[in-house]
Amino acid sequence: MKRTLLKTGDGSYTLHIPEWDEQYHSKHGAIAEALHVFIKEGLYHWLSENATSKISILEIGFGTGLNALLTFLESEKHSWSIEYTGVEAFPLGEEEYQKMNYSEMLKTSEEVFLKLHNSPWEENVIVSQKFQLRKEQKLFSDISAVNNYNLIYFDAFGIRVQPELWTEDIFAIMYASLKPKGVLVTYAANGNARRAMQAVGFRVERLPGPPGKKEMLRGTKS
Ligand SMILES: C[S@@+](CC[C@H](N)C(=O)[O-])C[C@H]1O[C@@H](n2cnc3c(N)ncnc32)[C@H](O)[C@@H]1O
Repeated sequence: MKRTLLKTGDGSYTLHIPEWDEQYHSKHGAIAEALHVFIKEGLYHWLSENATSKISILEIGFGTGLNALLTFLESEKHSWSIEYTGVEAFPLGEEEYQKMNYSEMLKTSEEVFLKLHNSPWEENVIVSQKFQLRKEQKLFSDISAVNNYNLIYFDAFGIRVQPELWTEDIFAIMYASLKPKGVLVTYAANGNARRAMQAVGFRVERLPGPPGKKEMLRGTKS
């Protein structure tokens, strides 16, 4: 499917899929959305609730690598040890990820962002002492990990274009892959998605959303 570059409200780029009229991130700000949904309401939340500085994260849709880059930068600021797994069926080509302006916007060297993308798939890669990356190229429905992650960044395309990813079947896979007290965060606030999360066992909270969005969801494995 064709993907074109789009500048979002905070100046950071995202990718636009004309065929679906869908973006990889919020038009109101790709970095702003990721910082709010995944870093603040996901990473900081989980670490504040759990007396450890070691965390294992699963990202649903590695895509542009923005969430991985932001999480890496957080590991540098704190004494956190992060194991990060990004699942992605349709990786970006080099000509696509080279155009993203995240390193420039975040005032960090391009080296790390390129390392995240150039790391081999299906291998554990030591990006730094505090950040290990594993990228797995497969469909979300083929995830078979059980009791493995503390936190899931659920960053699939919206329910309008991929309703099959916001179902009890997919959320049951997510729930099983989490350890007890594990958390799933998503930018979405859709009622059907929320009910599917609840049906598989998540305790779901509705939280204030990122810029341009009233609400988002956070589920906790009870
Ligand atoms: C909304 S984008 C977000 C990507 C990423 N988190 C980012 O910040 O760029 C959703 C991602 O899920 C991937 N994807 C869509 N359907 C998938 C599926 N069934 N299995 C695995 N990956 C899928 C897409 O290729 C895309 O990279």
